[in-house]
Amino acid sequence: MQVSVNTNDNINGTLVLPLWQGSESMPSGSEAGVPRALKSQIDTILAAGDFKAKSGSAMTLAGTDGGKALLIGLGKSDAATLQSVREAGAKVTASLSKIHGKTITVKFSGLEGDHMGAFVEGMILRDYSYDKYKSKDDDDDSDDSEIDAHITCEADKIENLQKSANLSLAVASGVYLARDLGNAPPNDLYPMAFAEQAIAFGNEHDNVKVTIINYEQAISMGMGGLVGVGMGSARKPCMVIFEINPDMPGPSPCIVGKGITFDTGGISLKPPPSMDEMKYDMHGSATTFGVMQALVASGHKERVIGVTCMAENMPSSNAQRPGDVIKTYSGKTVEVLNTDAEGRLVLSDGLWYTGTKLNPSYIIDLATLTGACVVALGHEASGLWSNDDDLRNKIKEAGEHCGEIAWPMPLFKAFEKEMTDSKIADVRNLGAGRWGGSNTAAAFLKQFIPNKPGTEEQIPWAHLDIAGTAWGAKTNKMLKNGATGIHVRTLHHLITGQ
Ligand code: BES
Ligand code: MN
Ligand code: ZN
Repeated sequence: MQVSVNTNDNINGTLVLPLWQGSESMPSGSEAGVPRALKSQIDTILAAGDFKAKSGSAMTLAGTDGGKALLIGLGKSDAATLQSVREAGAKVTASLSKIHGKTITVKFSGLEGDHMGAFVEGMILRDYSYDKYKSKDDDDDSDDSEIDAHITCEADKIENLQKSANLSLAVASGVYLARDLGNAPPNDLYPMAFAEQAIAFGNEHDNVKVTIINYEQAISMGMGGLVGVGMGSARKPCMVIFEINPDMPGPSPCIVGKGITFDTGGISLKPPPSMDEMKYDMHGSATTFGVMQALVASGHKERVIGVTCMAENMPSSNAQRPGDVIKTYSGKTVEVLNTDAEGRLVLSDGLWYTGTKLNPSYIIDLATLTGACVVALGHEASGLWSNDDDLRNKIKEAGEHCGEIAWPMPLFKAFEKEMTDSKIADVRNLGAGRWGGSNTAAAFLKQFIPNKPGTEEQIPWAHLDIAGTAWGAKTNKMLKNGATGIHVRTLHHLITGQ
């Protein structure tokens, strides 16, 4: 999508008119340049109450003399939130069909700057589909050119709105990338394929350094978690380290992503229904890569680190078994009681490596870690665990601001005890019972956060379980289907303050 904000009264293409609920005529601030026939038809519709502008509603007008229009309901003005106007913006893109064409003119009137910005952001976020694997019919004459969006608003708000639209476009490039990676089929997106894409990204940008820890190196470094999970697959595991602005001084924010490119469960094989969805089990790594892209595109100047733990969890004669004891990079041993609890194993090495080698100010990991998190929170929120109140609050606020909810969950001592009472190893990878499964998983991860150098205090760390939010939410208006790109925006906002 291309977005230009100006005061030009001309209407290019289809007129898009955001309206507050209860509007009985066209807002006078939007009238300029609207052909009389179109304006009178819109006024008639609004006066008759045929379009009430309820939140989530849209109406197309075509076949009139004055051109085409798309009316968009903003809901009640006193109930508007950033998210409600963002959703109204997304409704624009979702409603566009062949008859509207690819050129639109959005006429704002009487909206606050932040609300206009969120509306445009929603338009941009919803402008995504994953068609890479669809063949085009010879007789398909659909126009796949970009949407050309012209925006008009009050003169004194133009500059800020254009800035905010440019930022939204930059951050959305990271969201789109995360979605592309998430949606990619697992036969094409395997650990080293992800790594190669990361290397290409590093080569494209002078201020990005990408390093790969390959399978052999992971073995010699003692990364038993990553190796144990990945060794059952012909496609070997690896770790990818992204550094944005590597020469700037640390300590820096570090994002760590679970990147299981396909999760069969391993020897503890999953049941067949919906197993295809386990291609999304690398969405933590997709978000991490997406955040890196967003930061580069928005021109972030500070050092930021991303680490992704890539493996394919397969059953085979080389696969790890339930009962195996592995030695992780931290030196701690883990009793593998269920090979389907693999995300925590690869993350144990990624977290310890990040904490000890990369000079973090804080560490945030993202993982499609547990079905139990989906049981607890459904598809409406990611679970959020942290050893640091301040970091937890900041992530919660950033998520709220972006309409990507992260909901606080507990790290009770009892959960840590449960995960560290293995009869034969330091840590067990499965809770003693099935209750509180997302909390015991978080408590496991906490065992692999090193202390701040020279102290007895852990590095500030937060864990986001995105099992319910990475895909599958029918209520997420920012996309049609597939991978969501969840928390690219949250983390970009948290890191940059923008
Ligand atoms: N990737 C899954 C978690 C998952 C399941 C995410 C369904 C989204 C939807 C993870 O690796 C897993 O299998 N977790 C197990 C853990 C259990 C064996 C302790 C789970 O949730 O059942
Ligand atoms: Mn699993
Ligand atoms: Zn998994």
